[in-house]
Amino acid sequence: MDTNQINQAEIIPMPRIGEKAPAFKAVTTQGDIDFPNQYKGKWVILFSHPADFTPVCTSEFMTFANMSKQFDKANCQLVGLSVDGLYSHIAWLRTIKEKIQYKGMKNIEVKFPLIEDITMEVAKKYGMIQPGESNTKAVRAVFFIDPKGIIRTILYYPLSLGRNFDELYRVLIALQTADAYSVALPADWRPGDDVIVPTAGSCGVAKQRMANKKDMTCYDWFFCTKKLSKDLVNKIIGKK
Ligand code: BEZ
Repeated sequence: MDTNQINQAEIIPMPRIGEKAPAFKAVTTQGDIDFPNQYKGKWVILFSHPADFTPVCTSEFMTFANMSKQFDKANCQLVGLSVDGLYSHIAWLRTIKEKIQYKGMKNIEVKFPLIEDITMEVAKKYGMIQPGESNTKAVRAVFFIDPKGIIRTILYYPLSLGRNFDELYRVLIALQTADAYSVALPADWRPGDDVIVPTAGSCGVAKQRMANKKDMTCYDWFFCTKKLSKDLVNKIIGKK
């Protein structure tokens, strides 16, 4: 690939965690979309795939569509995107529904919107075109956007690797839990596991807190956890 092309792509700023999700209007398989405005008050996962009628993408769409009720219950809407046109999207989703049986899934209807982005305008805004990987296809990007339209997590996968949709659900629930209970979540956290109590401002305060600890386990002054039951996590899932 021509290095000049890479340099041109690099000057488009990539959205970052903590920033407002870039706004756009587009056509989708479910009608027009005004993003992220029409999703105010809801979590959204905006994700891209390289191309319709390709195997990894098909396995991903079937898996995501099969889990979509679970995401819906967690107040989260799914929005897909590729640089293919609307008629390609419609034909591909129809093929998935009518013809593909995969891992026990069949008759899978993709009810969430799939954006057509033939101009790559949206894909470029979201840093989904990464020329080192491909300059004609979007990589597998995943943006978690909160009910206020702020980007909270970004994941990127290459063309050849399908995503883990249990992990995407885990991230969503972890973000909602962190917000609701003002805690942080340790490695591999799952609902029901201990959560991390935010570090106190100074070592002195933290040591005092450790000495008075009732419901905490402290591994050192900067690392304390407490219990947070699965029931308490389930209680907030889907709430704003
Ligand atoms: C796939 O979804 O199978 C795929 C798409 C683009 C490049 C490589 C694989």
